Amino acid sequence: MELQSLKPKITQLIEDSTHVDHTLLDICKLLKSEVSHYDWVGFYFKNGNKNELKLGPYAGAPTDHTIIPFGKGICGQVAVSNQNFVVPDVKAQDNYIACSITVKSEIVIPIFIDGKNIGQIDIDSNTLDPFSVKDEEFLEFVCAKVATLL
Ligand code: SME
Repeated sequence: MELQSLKPKITQLIEDSTHVDHTLLDICKLLKSEVSHYDWVGFYFKNGNKNELKLGPYAGAPTDHTIIPFGKGICGQVAVSNQNFVVPDVKAQDNYIACSITVKSEIVIPIFIDGKNIGQIDIDSNTLDPFSVKDEEFLEFVCAKVATLL
């Protein structure tokens, strides 16, 4: 599905939200089901005062990586860089945490509240090099909307 056409659906889910985690899960399910190259969609958030990420709501296969130290893997790197991280081919990354052998690429976009990086959306794809600036722009929109809930 065209990413632009999902924006009103995201906005609606945020407006209708009565429970943050339920809404985040609905967003994960929507993205996973509607975007063919999104095979695992989840949120990680800073775990209290610790320099680590904790897995939040997600759609896709369960992962062992429910806690990720800052700096480790793609997610942990985004926690310290505050930058989008697009990985066209996970095999080309040294600092990568494999969740499933089917995953070929990954995109992580940070979530900011008052300029502070408080978490991220993480998407795995079973397709090689599927992400473009359109995904980045769309997921930045999703993250900005999610920030209004937190
Ligand atoms: N691949 C991630 C770990 C999280 S899983 O993709 C769910 C990473 O390298 O940080």
